Amino acid sequence: MTGPLLTEIDHVAIAVRDIDAAIEWYAVTFGAQLAHRELVERDGVEEALVRVAESYVQLLTPTREDSPVAKFLEARGEGLHHVAYRVADCAEALDAVKRAGNRVVDETPRPGSRGTTIAFVHPKSSFGTLVELVQEGPAPRRN
Ligand code: CO
Repeated sequence: MTGPLLTEIDHVAIAVRDIDAAIEWYAVTFGAQLAHRELVERDGVEEALVRVAESYVQLLTPTREDSPVAKFLEARGEGLHHVAYRVADCAEALDAVKRAGNRVVDETPRPGSRGTTIAFVHPKSSFGTLVELVQEGPAPRRN
């Protein structure tokens, strides 16, 4: 490893039951602006990114009952769902995490919202908090 893999906090994700109410609460309480909203069908979630300086609060709500976020809400209620760190190269960061003997949710990077490339580290390895690695833009082609 040549330097720190994590360059910034990209977002802190919070599971909520009413995403409109949560967006409104951040706006009214903190004057925080909605930067992006997206349905991520693959994950069965709707997400809203509320800007905080160069990072975001990501509000997550399920779009179907079998979505992982629906199961999370059922089991644990609303609250912190995961922390996402920005990395320069998601594949390289994920490899370093795996080489160090950690469990991962995603064996290879996959597309995230906003056209990013992401991978999740298993919370069993990361002290009980789901960790996401986020690279801006699509994964580069590798041969
Ligand atoms: Co996320």
